[in-house]
Amino acid sequence: MTDKMAEIEIAEPSNIVIFGATGDLSKRKLMPALVSMFDCGLIHTDSKILGVVNNRTEEVWLELVREGMLQFYPEVVADEQRWQRFLSRLVMVPGDLADDATYARLGEALMTLGGKKNAMFYCAVPPEWYGRVARGLHAAGLADESEGYRRLVIEKPFGHDLESARALNHELQSVFSEDQIYRIDHYLGKESVQNLLVYRFANSIMEPLWNRNYIDNIQIFASETIGIEYRAKYYEKAGALRDMIQSHLMQMMTLVAMEPPVEFSADAVRDEKMKVLRAVREIKPEQIKIDTVSAQYASGTIDGKPVPAYVSEENVSPDSAVETFAAVRFYIDNWRWQGVPFILWSGKRLQAQASEVMIHFRRPPFNLFNSHASVPAANALVFRLQPEAGIFLRLNAKKPGLTTDNKKMVMRAPYATGGDGVADAYEVLMHDVLTGDRTLFSRADEVEASWEIIKPILDAWKNRVSVERYRAGTWEIPAMDELTRNCDGGWYKPEDL
Ligand code: BG6
Repeated sequence: MTDKMAEIEIAEPSNIVIFGATGDLSKRKLMPALVSMFDCGLIHTDSKILGVVNNRTEEVWLELVREGMLQFYPEVVADEQRWQRFLSRLVMVPGDLADDATYARLGEALMTLGGKKNAMFYCAVPPEWYGRVARGLHAAGLADESEGYRRLVIEKPFGHDLESARALNHELQSVFSEDQIYRIDHYLGKESVQNLLVYRFANSIMEPLWNRNYIDNIQIFASETIGIEYRAKYYEKAGALRDMIQSHLMQMMTLVAMEPPVEFSADAVRDEKMKVLRAVREIKPEQIKIDTVSAQYASGTIDGKPVPAYVSEENVSPDSAVETFAAVRFYIDNWRWQGVPFILWSGKRLQAQASEVMIHFRRPPFNLFNSHASVPAANALVFRLQPEAGIFLRLNAKKPGLTTDNKKMVMRAPYATGGDGVADAYEVLMHDVLTGDRTLFSRADEVEASWEIIKPILDAWKNRVSVERYRAGTWEIPAMDELTRNCDGGWYKPEDL
C-alpha cells in the first residue's frame, strides 16, 4: 500500500456491504484489501463492513474471517490491536439472498449505522446471483441515491456469452443506473496495467512508433503454471477463452491499441476502448481454424513435481473437451493497426508464469555491419505485468572485441516491487468505487462488444468432443507456430526476450 497519502483522494464515509462474505473471494482478496485500506486511512473510520451471511452465527462468521486472514494476511491477526480494530468494523447481516427480507434487514442495519448513507454493494457471489441481489436491493429501496451514493460492484464473469451478458446488463440496468454499476476486471487494477497508459501517453517517444509502420506484431498473454485449482465447476463451463481472453486480455488489447483519449476521465477512456472493439475484424466461421488455437493440458511435471491431466482433476468430466489454453489472432481494421496481428493467448499449466504485452517492431532493412550475417534481431518492447512488473527494451549492440558483429541486449527498467508502495488490484479498484472513478471498470457496451467478437469462436467450439493436448509444464503446442507464422519472431514466450 502506498504511503503517498497526500496525492490520494480519501473517500467519504461509506458502508461496504459484501454479499458472499464467507466465500473465497472475500477471504482471499476483499478482507485483506479492506484491512490495508482502513489502516492507510483510505477508508473513512466511520465506515463499516457488513457481511451478508446465511446459516451461520456471527461467531462462526468471525472465525471464518480470522482463518482467511491467517492464511492470506497473517500479519494482521498477529498484531492484536490491529486485528481488534478490524473486528470492530465488521457487522453481520444474517439472511438468504433469495429472500427479500434479507435486503430489508440490510436496509435497517444501514439506517442504524452512523454517517452518510453511502454504500458500496460488492457481489462476491456466483454470477447467477447478480441479478437477484440487484433486484433485492432495489426492492428494499437500496438503489435509491437520494441520501447518499449506492454503488453496485459486479465481479467477472459478466455473462457467459453475448446473450447472457445482454440479459444481465438489462436486468441490472432496470434497477440501477449504468453509472452506479462497477464491473470489475481485476487486471485493470494492476498498477502495471495502468502504467501502460502512462508509458504510452506521458512519453513522447512512444507515439511516433506506435503504429503499423513500425510494429510487426503484438502479443498479449497471461501464462500460468497453476492448474484450475479448486474451480472445476466454474472452469468446465468457462474454459480459457472466456476466463482470460474475453475479459483480461481483450481489455489490455484495447489499452494498447486505443487512440489518446481527450482527457483521463471514465467515459473519454472507455469511448476510445470501445472504438478499438468496434474495429476488430470479425472472425468468420471458415477462419476459426486459422485464427484460433485451443488445447488442454495432459499430465506432466511442474517445478519437478508430477501434476495430473486436466481430465483427471477433481470434478472434471473424464471426456471434457474444455480448453485450458486458448489463443486468438485478431486484426484491428483502422488506420493505425491495419495488417498488424494481435496475438492474445493464455493457458494453465504452462512452462512459466508471466503476463506481458510484447510489441515486436519491424527489423532493420538490412545488415549494414556484416553483409554475410542475417539481419539483426527485431527490437521489442515488453511490458511485464507479473512477475516483477517492468518495461524491457530489446536492442542490438556491438559484440565486444575486434568485430562489428552485433548481438541483442536488453535494457531493463523494473517498475516497482511489493515494498515500493504498489497497491493490490483490489485496493485500487475498491478505492475507485469509493471515490466514484469508473475509468478502470468495464462499461456495458464494452462487455457486450467483447462477447460479440468472440461469439463465432464460442459457437464453433461449443459442441466439440475433442481438443488437442499439451504436456503440463511445457510449451508443446505446435499449432501456435502456425498461428504466428506471419509474425516476425513467431510465437513469443516469456523467456524469449
Ligand atoms: C482470473 C481467472 O480472472 O484471473 C483465473 O479466473 C486466473 O483463472 C486469474 O488464474 C489470473 O489472475 P492473476 O492476477 O493471478 O494474473
